Amino acid sequence: MRLLLVKTERGLRFLQEDYSTNGGGAKPGAGRWTPVQVPEDSGLQARIASHLSYAEEVPDRKAAIFGSGGQLGVELKQEFARRGWEVKGFERTQVDITDRAAVEAALASFDPQLVLNSAAYNQVDVAETEPQAALSANGLAVRNLAMACRQIDAQLVHFSTDYVFDGTKGSPYAEEDATRPLGAYAVSKLAGELFAQAYLDNPLIIRTCGVYGPGGLHTARGNFVELMLRLAASGQPIRVVNDHVASPTYAPALAEKTADLVEKGKTGVFHVGGGTPISWYEWAGLIFAAAGLQPQLRATNEREYRTAARRPKFSALSNAKMEGAGVAPMPALEDALRQYFERRG
Ligand SMILES: NC(=O)c1ccc[n+]([C@@H]2O[C@H](COP(=O)([O-])OP(=O)(O)OC[C@H]3O[C@@H](n4cnc5c(N)ncnc54)[C@H](OP(=O)(O)O)[C@@H]3O)[C@@H](O)[C@H]2O)c1
Repeated sequence: MRLLLVKTERGLRFLQEDYSTNGGGAKPGAGRWTPVQVPEDSGLQARIASHLSYAEEVPDRKAAIFGSGGQLGVELKQEFARRGWEVKGFERTQVDITDRAAVEAALASFDPQLVLNSAAYNQVDVAETEPQAALSANGLAVRNLAMACRQIDAQLVHFSTDYVFDGTKGSPYAEEDATRPLGAYAVSKLAGELFAQAYLDNPLIIRTCGVYGPGGLHTARGNFVELMLRLAASGQPIRVVNDHVASPTYAPALAEKTADLVEKGKTGVFHVGGGTPISWYEWAGLIFAAAGLQPQLRATNEREYRTAARRPKFSALSNAKMEGAGVAPMPALEDALRQYFERRG
């Protein structure tokens, strides 16, 4: 076994390399580094430090990102790397967050200060036929992440949704408004928030809304902008609900505001939506205008356009708390959409 002493912004940290269990043979350098808990005030830290031959000062700005192949995940990777963080992204094929052992192994070997969870089961209607899958990925898996963060003393940043609200307020939701989820997806996301808060003292929970980013071009689920462009290309008339209002959120701007909140040391619940309440029908109109398309677009409503899951009618989020914390406002909807099309190419 080898011990490594690392001097970080959080004080001295001890890591042990356990290579004895490595199937490839008991070779130093082939094992996993895991943190060792050494009480700070026992004098033990100083005694161990005096026996170590190797000590190194390392910058303690490591961020692990789960769900890094998703729309938000790809932007978080870029944004934190741009700000000088050492970033490691885990796509679903590398780490499935429902696998507790895999989460723990990933975090123990990288030992980040910050863990961002942008992985999520986002199929709102399908969740009504497979609520266990939604609860597993959006709820229980957050428990895995929170417990692993506790072990390595890392901060968890978790993303949640406007769908934790029932949509009856009629004006943008603030962080302290009462939650009342309306379906299996929404319940599973609220469960994720509760698990993060149950196991950690200071998680940062960011609720967002209608996310669209260039990453959606390459994901199976895509986003609303890409869905509208596909429908327009099909030449069929397009019906979009005009009685449901949200605040569509540009993923690169969300990643930027996330990094701002982290670097300001903020914890608790924050809303980061697009900043402009708009109906899905009006949003579709803006998208077609920005794309220079004129498909047959018709307004409909939830009575005519039935879906498996109930959705909040008005779920725009207020960003007032974020702005009050000194973070610049989100870009205007039209500007964000223009940037989306520029990056989309
Ligand atoms: N998209 C929205 O409209 C919206 C609205 C409100 C809130 N949010 C929240 O915002 C956050 C980011 O969403 P997004 O738009 O970036 O979603 P996204 O594009 O669908 O990305 C989610 C990512 O999570 C991965 N994933 C799913 N299950 C996983 C698991 N068990 N283990 C590891 N990875 C898993 C997905 O991989 P696969 O593609 O392989 O499944 C995908 O790469 C999520 O917390 C979401 O709930 C999103």
